[in-house]
Amino acid sequence: MEPIIIAIDGFSSCGKSTLAKALAKRLGFAYLDTGAMYRAVTLYGIQKGVEVANLNDQEISKLLNEVEITFKPDPITAENITYLNGKPVEKEIRGKAVSNAVSEVAQLKEIRKRMLQLQREAGKNKGIVVDGRDIGTKVFPQAELKLFMTASPEIRAERRYQELQKKGQQISLEEVEENLKKRDHQDTHREENPLVKAKDAIELDNSHLDQDEQLNFVLRLLQEKFA
Ligand code: DC
Repeated sequence: MEPIIIAIDGFSSCGKSTLAKALAKRLGFAYLDTGAMYRAVTLYGIQKGVEVANLNDQEISKLLNEVEITFKPDPITAENITYLNGKPVEKEIRGKAVSNAVSEVAQLKEIRKRMLQLQREAGKNKGIVVDGRDIGTKVFPQAELKLFMTASPEIRAERRYQELQKKGQQISLEEVEENLKKRDHQDTHREENPLVKAKDAIELDNSHLDQDEQLNFVLRLLQEKFA
């Protein structure tokens, strides 16, 4: 498979990252989790005790200069782990505190500007699967394949709830539903690059598809498009 860019956008807890990772593995491509980048910046703000949303552009820029986000495969699972300033933060960035604060941080223009630069840099050699909210519309509008993933809100909440339970996090299904609803609203209504389906994106509603079915759907698309 020639190196292309595959952009996967969609709502929270739609299974974007699961599909993106499986695709990257199958194609031998890199994988970039752009949500993890916004989460890492949010965590940095929390660690420093600053309300990032209250900072001015100059202060945000200064804060971003102190942040280095990298990804390295876990030596045991081979899954990509997010590092913030050299420290693994995968668990912290998926926790409640970051999940509740990240949408607000991801709305900020200065933050988006910097993340955009970093994401474009990561994809400059192509051969990459990138998931997020604005990948097909803003970060890589020229991506060779764009997917827009959806699933019913009830199914998404249930999946997220199960995932958090497995990680041992104390949270009710109602709390998960509330958090998702809030994030959906913020992601689709913000001024800066809101979540919208790119005109040339292919919609994939995975409410009733398992992981293999989703992967096969995309592999078929790739074969039709690039064979
Ligand atoms: O995909 P996720 O749930 O890890 O994303 C975390 C937050 O970051 C979510 O509120 C949406 C935001 N985000 C974004 O605005 N743009 C992206 N490209 C990726 C994520």
